[in-house]
Amino acid sequence: MSLILGHRGASAYAPDNTRAAFELAINMGADGVETDIHITKDGIPVIQHNYEIDRNSNGHGYVEEMTYDELLQYDFGSWKGEAFKGEKILTLDECLEIADKSMRFINLELKQVMHQDSGIVEKTLELVKKHKMVDRVLLSSFDHTLMQQAQVLCPEILTGALYDESEVKQNNIYEILKDAPQYVSDLGFDFANPHVDYLCEEGIVDKFTQKGIGVAVWTVDKPYIAQQCVKHGVKCIITNKPDVILKAVKEICD
Ligand code: G3P
Ligand code: MG
Repeated sequence: MSLILGHRGASAYAPDNTRAAFELAINMGADGVETDIHITKDGIPVIQHNYEIDRNSNGHGYVEEMTYDELLQYDFGSWKGEAFKGEKILTLDECLEIADKSMRFINLELKQVMHQDSGIVEKTLELVKKHKMVDRVLLSSFDHTLMQQAQVLCPEILTGALYDESEVKQNNIYEILKDAPQYVSDLGFDFANPHVDYLCEEGIVDKFTQKGIGVAVWTVDKPYIAQQCVKHGVKCIITNKPDVILKAVKEICD
């Protein structure tokens, strides 16, 4: 059965990547969430999608150029509605505390780092181990070299290669678009994490499955696409609307 993960939490209804969005996803019945990690100027892994905080807070500037204490001053909820006023940026440590108590599975996406010595892989793995969640985590990134580092540091952690056309260009990894199942298999990753547009190719999920590779697809907000994903054996369906997708999946499983 496919796992249903809230994309940055239940982000259609609550400010993405906040405690409120994670709790809402779980209360809707999701198995867990997908979330994004950046490193602060003082080396703390925090939960945030964009490189800057301008879109989703009342602050301004880049996460990597601010300390955790600076980030704590800002409100990451009000932009989505008064009900979310006062949401603070979460550390990965706090996120994993929530996940350990309430989630069957969590997908941690490592955002590409500006400084190669940020330690994002080491710090993430250290926290996953601290919370004893190695068997409930899928690490993924558009920067596949980060996943290779993770394989070396923690061979038992699940790793996934994220891809869509624009990000592939940014990372200069065109190879994956030629033959994704072969590419992921050659690198020895456990998962392929394609944008949903890449699942249109006939038989693509089967090609991954035959090579022992799981598929974690994003972002699936349309019920009939989620139903197709379940029928084809997609392992993780990542959605902004866990309520809608859970209802669609239930319809075909009942
Ligand atoms: O991990 C799936 C998806 O979140 C990747 O894209 O930009 O939403 O983090 P993005
Ligand atoms: Mg993401």
